[in-house]
Amino acid sequence: MEHEHAENVPLVRVVEPRKSRFPQRMCFYTVAGIITLTVAQLIFLARTSAARDWDHLHHSRFSRQQVRRIISQEVSTESIANFSKVYYDGEPHLGGDGPELTAYTQDKFLQFGLETRLESYEVLLNRPISHRAALIDGDKVVYELSLEEDVQAQDPSTRRPNRIPTFHGYSASGNVTAKFVFANYGQKSDFQALEKAGVSCEGKVVLMRYGKIYRGNKVLHAQSRGAKAVLIYSDSSLDGDITTDNGYKYYPEGPARNPSMVERGMVFDLTQYPGDPTTPGRASHPGSDRIEPETLPKIPSLPISYLDAKPLLDALEGHGPAIWDNISSGPSTLEVLVENEQDYDYHTITNVIGEIPGLLDEEVIVGNHRDAWILGGADPNSGTAVVMEVARVLGDLYLRGWRPYRRIVFASWDAEEYGMVGSTEWVEDHARRLNRKALAYLNIDLGYSGDQFAVKASPLLEAAIKDATRFVDDPYGRHETVYDDWMASPVAGVRPLGSGSDYTAFFNHLGIPSADLRYQFRDGNPAYHYHSNYDSLHWMENYGDPDFEAHAALSKVLALTVINLVGHGVVPIRTRSYAVLMDRVLRQYLSNMETQEVRDVLETAEYLLDAASSYDNQLERLSREYFRDYAWYHFITKFANMCRIKVANFKLVRLERIFLHKDGIDGRPWYKHIVFAPHRDDGYAPALFPGLIEAIEDSDTEKLDKWIEIVHRALKTALHTIAN
Ligand SMILES: *[C@@H]1O[C@H](CO)[C@@H](O)[C@H](O)[C@H]1NC(C)=O
Ligand SMILES: *[C@@H]1O[C@H](CO)[C@@H](O)[C@H](O)[C@H]1NC(C)=O
Ligand SMILES: *[C@@H]1O[C@H](CO)[C@@H](O)[C@H](O)[C@H]1NC(C)=O
Ligand SMILES: [Zn+2]
Repeated sequence: MEHEHAENVPLVRVVEPRKSRFPQRMCFYTVAGIITLTVAQLIFLARTSAARDWDHLHHSRFSRQQVRRIISQEVSTESIANFSKVYYDGEPHLGGDGPELTAYTQDKFLQFGLETRLESYEVLLNRPISHRAALIDGDKVVYELSLEEDVQAQDPSTRRPNRIPTFHGYSASGNVTAKFVFANYGQKSDFQALEKAGVSCEGKVVLMRYGKIYRGNKVLHAQSRGAKAVLIYSDSSLDGDITTDNGYKYYPEGPARNPSMVERGMVFDLTQYPGDPTTPGRASHPGSDRIEPETLPKIPSLPISYLDAKPLLDALEGHGPAIWDNISSGPSTLEVLVENEQDYDYHTITNVIGEIPGLLDEEVIVGNHRDAWILGGADPNSGTAVVMEVARVLGDLYLRGWRPYRRIVFASWDAEEYGMVGSTEWVEDHARRLNRKALAYLNIDLGYSGDQFAVKASPLLEAAIKDATRFVDDPYGRHETVYDDWMASPVAGVRPLGSGSDYTAFFNHLGIPSADLRYQFRDGNPAYHYHSNYDSLHWMENYGDPDFEAHAALSKVLALTVINLVGHGVVPIRTRSYAVLMDRVLRQYLSNMETQEVRDVLETAEYLLDAASSYDNQLERLSREYFRDYAWYHFITKFANMCRIKVANFKLVRLERIFLHKDGIDGRPWYKHIVFAPHRDDGYAPALFPGLIEAIEDSDTEKLDKWIEIVHRALKTALHTIAN
């Protein structure tokens, strides 16, 4: 340019008097500079994500990645071992007992930085007074059952002086002398086999073995067939290869089941409702209105050891058909005497609650029971140690400036062993608040009874839990992560919740998505002495999880699941697994029926499947948006996304409640969830679409029509909620 114009430059420069332009230039450059800087600032520096805005607004000091890293570093096997020792070595803590452990738990919550309180209820419980059982021949005692577990010199908790007698929670008092029959595992099918073989239980004592189903259903099945009393023993039939027949020594010398073990446990009809038996559906305070409970067995029952059962089984030999394992079913010619005296009274039980405040009005509850049938067992102390460790680590993060979006509530429940009494009363007490605000309930009961990671949960929580397991190393080194190990196992993925622990009131009564996480027994593991004195720290340190590495992995999975639930702007609930499960089960039950109503239900389930897939995609997009950096001038888009997130969260928190039916399942109105309930013949196992399956089993067409309509209505509501 300059050269082109060069020719026009005058040769002689006319010198004019100098006039300074310096101030204008200065001014121009300054203004231009400021404008450039400001524009550059606005364009480049103001980029920020909704996630960062939120953390900033709430003064949270840590990002999600930092929180994950801190959890992985801070969870400590030494700390878990320390908690374990306190709870295993503590005073007896039957439901309502153990004030020192209650105080210890609250003190620890306080130390961790949680806001704590005690919440007490007054509930009906039984305590054993006396018991006796004997094999008799007229006036002569042929064998007196010991009804005690042998003391093992190597295992200190088996010889503690204040150990808890062998008895059944909520069993009936009564004295019976009668001939007896053997009814295998006491399943409905076992009693049907007896009937077919012409063996009657009417007026007899029924001898059964533990396993397969919830013990309360064994007692109920016997009672409904006219039995006068029940004895239940533990054998090694479900212990896989680890038996004395295969050359293993029994505990404490070896990993096989000790034949002197006795499984305590409660026996009321949990398939009707859990919690205090006199106040179903409402909290049990002093002075509460109470009903005469109908869920308690009317016949006495006692748990016994295999050693005590053997003489009875021998006395059956040659009497009646041998239907199972070459054991004759009787009836016996000799009689058995059963005496059981229980004291029923109202006891104060105490839940310990500790909270980390959140910024939103939503909450996630993490619970574990504190009471135990025995002095020091993995049930629940392994779970207690895990939950205490998670409370410690998250409390520490909170004290260091981390701020979760949602409130975290830690709960140490009392009287779970009597039938989820502490958690059920608490849920019934706080039902209104929980119904609006509770996003999820995470349960750990028996944290370790074997080396198999397993999860039972609402399908809505599958994504959040799976994500957590991907960040935790497999403590056994069989695979890289807990996720890989879990997916390669026979129990891969989340399986349906039945009942048997503290999630029941949250899930089945209020429709709060719930999960139960554990390391559980699998074939090849040392026998686990459930509810026996041999479930002890000595067992854990010699046969279970000696270095507490599985405990630590479970703690990390639990903590990371909590973080996923409370630390993301978008509620990490995904819907497709639920729709897949419902579609599959409905097809399985109904596809051979030809009515228009059935076709409509199946069609709606299929639409829901499609809608769930695209809804999940939308949620994934929203989640990404939440972390995307935007320039300031896109503030409208960002604001619109925040509104979308708000709406999505509102729906997600309430989604599971769509599947509640206000009148509950037929004959058991407390159970309101129409997709999941404990099976009526086995309190532990789940029944899917219980109304439908019961109608089909009973060939009750009227009931079937009613339930098809109820299910159809819920499916349509779900469809309208997530399709848009
Ligand atoms: C565990 O307990 C021991 C003995 O009381 C104590 O020295 C140690 O500091 C504790 N460790 C942790 C991590 O709490
Ligand atoms: C059962 O027998 C015991 C011992 O003989 C006795 O103390 C108790 O009162 C009896 N209970 C009932 C309900 O008859
Ligand atoms: C089954 O029991 C009978 C006696 O009742 C015995 O003779 C037989 O050997 C037993 N069979 C097995 C396989 O244990
Ligand atoms: Zn338990």
